Amino acid sequence: MTSSLETVGNGEDVTTQIRDIRAAQPGNLMARYFDEAYYCSLDEAKRERLHKIIRSGIENPDSQMGAYAQYCTDYEDFEPLLEPMIRDYHNISDDRLIAQEHDWATPTSGYNLEGVDARLKDVSMRVRVGRNIGAFPLPGAMTKSSRLEFETLLIEAFSVLMEDPEFGGEYLSLTPGSSCEIDEETYRRRIEAHQMFKDMSGDPYLESGGISSDWPYGRGMYISGSQDFIVWVGEEDHLRVMSMKRGSDLSALFSRLHGGLETLAKLIPDFAHSERYGYSTSCPTNLGSAMRASLHLPLPNLTKEGRDLEHVKETALDLSLAVRGVGGEHSEAGEGGIVDISPRARLGVTEAEIMQCLYEGSVALWSLENAN
Ligand code: ARG
Repeated sequence: MTSSLETVGNGEDVTTQIRDIRAAQPGNLMARYFDEAYYCSLDEAKRERLHKIIRSGIENPDSQMGAYAQYCTDYEDFEPLLEPMIRDYHNISDDRLIAQEHDWATPTSGYNLEGVDARLKDVSMRVRVGRNIGAFPLPGAMTKSSRLEFETLLIEAFSVLMEDPEFGGEYLSLTPGSSCEIDEETYRRRIEAHQMFKDMSGDPYLESGGISSDWPYGRGMYISGSQDFIVWVGEEDHLRVMSMKRGSDLSALFSRLHGGLETLAKLIPDFAHSERYGYSTSCPTNLGSAMRASLHLPLPNLTKEGRDLEHVKETALDLSLAVRGVGGEHSEAGEGGIVDISPRARLGVTEAEIMQCLYEGSVALWSLENAN
C-alpha cells in the first residue's frame, strides 16, 4: 500500500504518474529529471515538501518547467532535482559553474531606438524584475494571513515612496475591505492599460503551485504619479518591480527601474539572493537576474500579418530573443503583426547584458523586417 504522502489527484503513485508524464510530455523538465531513487531516499517530511514543489508539473503535464519553489531555501534543499532542471532550461552545461553576477552599468543614452529609425519613436517598452523576501514563504506557501501581513508591510514602504516627489503615486489594493481597495471598474481599466495583473485564479499552473490561493487577498499594485514605475504585490513573486514607458529610449527605461528598485530596497527587508542562482524566484525559469525586458514591435512581414508567430520565433531565437503575442504569455500576435520580444536568458547574464541583447536584437529584427 502507498502512503497518503505518495498519492495525489486520482490516487496513483507519484512515481508512476511522473513516469507516464515523462513518456507523453518530453518537454516537461520536472518529469524529465525526476529521479525515483532520489525521491525515495527522502524522509516523509521532505517528500511532502518536494511534492508541493512539483505538483504544478504533475497536474499540468504540458508544463515546460513543471515546478514552483515554495520557500527560497528549496533551491538548496532540493538541489538534486532542481539543479538539472535549471541547467537544462537556462542552457548551462554540467561542466560550467552556475554563478550569477549583477551589473547595471549600461551606456546612459546609447539605446535609443529612434536613432535607428524615426518610425520607432513610440514603442511600448517594459522591464521587470522579480523579488522575494526570505522572511516570508514564497507565494505558493503563503497563508491568507501571511499574505495580508506582507501587504501591510509593503503599504508602509509605499507610503514613504508616495511622499517622495520622484515617485508620488498611489497604492491600489485588491484586498476586500482594505482602506486602499479599488473597485472592479478601476481594476478593469488598469488591466486594460497593461499596468495591473490579471485574476490569477484562472491560471491552472499557478493554482497547482498554490500561488493563486486566497485570491485576491494581499494582492495589489503601487504605481508612481508619472505611471512609469510599478510594483506588483502578491503575484507570482512577492514583488514584481517594473518600469513601463512608451517612447524609444531603452536606457531611460532601465535607469528608472534601477533607481526605483534601489529606493524600494532601502525600505523593506532584504531580497532573497544566492551567489549561484541570483535572486530567488517562485519559478526556476526566472532565477538569476529575474529580469524580463521587452518591447512591442510591429513585424507584419516577419509574421505575415500576425498569422505566423512560429517563423518569427525561429528567427528571433538566433538573436537570443523570445517572441510572444502582446496579450502576455501564450497569446497570439496582435493586429499588424505586433509582437512582444524579450531576451530569453535570465540566469548567468547580467542586467546590462539583457538590455544590450534587447536593443541589438530589436535593431536586427527590425532590419530583417524591412529588408527589401
Ligand atoms: N509553470 C509553467 C510551466 O512550467 C510556467 C513556466 C514559465 N512561466 C512563468 N510565468 N513562470 O510551464
